[in-house]
Amino acid sequence: MSMNSHGLFAERVTDVQHYTDRLFRFRITRPQSLRFRSGEFVMLGLPSDGKPLMRAYSIASPSWDESLEFFSIKVPGGPLTEKLQNIKPGDEILLRPKTTGTLVHDALLPGKRLYMISTGTGVAPFISIMRDPESYDKFEQLILTHTCRTADELLYGYDSVEATKQDPLVRELAQNRLSHFASTTREESHYRGRITALVRDKILFDALNLQFFNPEEDRIMLCGSMAMIKDMKNLIEPVGFSEGSHQSPGTFVVERAFVG
Ligand code: A2P
Repeated sequence: MSMNSHGLFAERVTDVQHYTDRLFRFRITRPQSLRFRSGEFVMLGLPSDGKPLMRAYSIASPSWDESLEFFSIKVPGGPLTEKLQNIKPGDEILLRPKTTGTLVHDALLPGKRLYMISTGTGVAPFISIMRDPESYDKFEQLILTHTCRTADELLYGYDSVEATKQDPLVRELAQNRLSHFASTTREESHYRGRITALVRDKILFDALNLQFFNPEEDRIMLCGSMAMIKDMKNLIEPVGFSEGSHQSPGTFVVERAFVG
């Protein structure tokens, strides 16, 4: 579609799936000229009479995909998500033409394993990364962790890992090299607890038959609530991990999950 008068792409919703009363996923058409790196985010919004209200959304589809997928929370009273949660196929979505973000391979030094640690909708950029063949060129092993309050909130992550393992482009790479570890904090499931506790108590590593984080070999991406990121930093910085950026790659990178 074309650009509107605000310099935004006007795209169309193609598909919406509500996972819980707090979470939904949607797909939109992709502007042909939009280029992005797997793991980046874009500013997205709905048309309005005045200036459109835009929020940052991680792109959950990989950079080669023909459409764009997003995973959103529904914030009660949230200026954008109150309306966005009602979108239907055919509705218009606005996108800013520029994408950005730190959850990209260039911000990390080379390593053996990539840990992608997420809470809630913070899983979205990692869905993009695990579906990109480049990720398997860079790392021997990819580990996605996803922690939510309840088991039904984990379903999008499960569906996406399954889709990755079926995807002809990456299924052979992902089959034995992509691991998924999911936990819940407010009800029982296979693993119960915050990811910080499951790391500290080595439950994550025992489950995957791996050793504790090692800055010589492991690289970590964090995406989720500010509190989780802060607490994870307090676990990994003392054992020698240092935060990377585009200018200066490091052994971990961080992005908060966006709300509003
Ligand atoms: P909890 O249920 O104990 O708050 P939310 O849905 O609020 O964004 O939270 C997503 C997940 O992040 C929840 O499982 C929540 O656990 C967890 N979480 C919240 N704060 C922290 C923290 N400081 N460290 C680790 N996990 C956290």
